[in-house]
Formats: sequence, structure tokens, C-alpha cells
Amino acid sequence: MQVHLYDSAEQVGQAAAILIAAQLIQKPAAVLGLATGSSPIPTYQELIRMHREGVLDFSSATTFNLDEYCKLPVEHPCSYHRFMREQLFDHVNLAPESTHVPNGNAEDLAAECSRYDRAISRAGGIDLQLLGIGRNGHIGFNEPSDQFVYGCHVVRLTKSTIEANRRFFDTEADVPREAISLGVGSIMNAKRVLLIATGDDKAEAVRKAIREDIDPATQASILRTHPNVVFLLDRAAAARL
Ligand code: F6R
Repeated sequence: MQVHLYDSAEQVGQAAAILIAAQLIQKPAAVLGLATGSSPIPTYQELIRMHREGVLDFSSATTFNLDEYCKLPVEHPCSYHRFMREQLFDHVNLAPESTHVPNGNAEDLAAECSRYDRAISRAGGIDLQLLGIGRNGHIGFNEPSDQFVYGCHVVRLTKSTIEANRRFFDTEADVPREAISLGVGSIMNAKRVLLIATGDDKAEAVRKAIREDIDPATQASILRTHPNVVFLLDRAAAARL
């Protein structure tokens, strides 16, 4: 695995955007796996800038997001559908039908999970998967556990994730308790994985993922077995390595 250190979250975002741009230039019809949350915002801002300057064309690309809350209207300010529109989709030339976010409001969530995994396979699999990391070491919403779950599935969010994501909602009670998430197998099937972590609240998760045993208690630790994974860290997130 490769680990690269930067002085600021903005630089991490620039580096991630450069790697995503390189992917799109090499393969304009690339399939990108995308994340939400605070970590990728500088990356998306940089991608938007490159697109506005005419350097980056998304018109042939396809995207699949990692996850979405269950039972949260897509128009809710905290839905990942809305986040992606506001932070990226509305500002670049991705075809709306080529962007995919799991439907957390599907009546049959298990069927939605199978449909989502099949849609990724039909698209040819993910070329480049962008990831953040939870304070508890989660990737997507694959929470600490005694096992790695292969496929897309419905997850019960842990207390730590509910507390971490509470900052986006009015009250903690408003944070959904369940989400749909790509499984670790689907993430590991991506041809290339790019994990970004910034801030000192990620330092312990980053240390466990990189330095400790590969263990589903820190789901990101499995990334070390991926043949093409890059961690982009700011100094605060790398402080315990
Ligand atoms: C988001 C996701 C999560 C986040 C993680 C870090 O789609 O899959 O795993 O990447 O919770 O979130 P932030 O970046 O907000 O600290």
C-alpha cells in the first residue's frame, strides 16, 4: 500500500482530485465509487474547479456512491442524494442517469441491496473507489464487527457513528439508525482504492488500519490486502503512525 502525507486537508483534496482526474483522462468512461461526509469535500471542490477550467470531462463517467441513510427523504438536507448533488453532481457534466446512490427508501431494502450490487457489476465494476474513514475505522457504513460483510447490505449504525454524524442534523434523535452500505467485498473489488483521512479525530482509526492486525473490528484494516490502495493523509490524521 502507499501512504502519502500532506500539510493540510486542502492538499489531500488536491492530491485525491489529481488521481481521480488521471483516472478519467486515462479512461473517460471510468466507473467511480464516491463517498460523502466532510473528508471528500475539498476533493470535490478541486474536481469542480478542474471541470470549470475545461481540464476534466465527466460526460462518459459513471458513479456509484457508497451508502445512503434509510428512511430519510432524498430532499432532506442530510441525505446523501442531496449531498452529492450539492457538492458535485450539480457542478460537473455527469449525466444524471449515470450517477447512482442507494435507495434508502426502497420498500424492500434487501432487494435494493442486490439491485445495487448487480448494477455495479453490469457497469463493469468500480475502477476507482474514493473512501473516507470513520473514527471507529468504518469504511462506507461497514461498522466494527466480528466479520467482514461481502455485499451491499442494511447496517445498524453504531453509537459512535450516530454521534459523529449528529453534527449534520438538528438533534441526535434525528440521525437515522440504519443505512444501506456497499459491503467490504464490493469495495475490495474496486480496481483501485483511494482513502482520504484528515484531522486528529481520525488518527487512531488510521493507526489501527495501518499498524494493527487485519481485523473486522477496524474494517479499514482489510484495505492493506488490496493490491492497489493509496492512503492520502494530512499530518493530524497521520500523527499516531
Ligand atoms: C460516507 C462514508 C463514511 C465516511 C466516514 C467519514 O459516504 O461512507 O464512511 O467516509 O464516516 O466521514 P467524514 O468524512 O464526515 O469524517
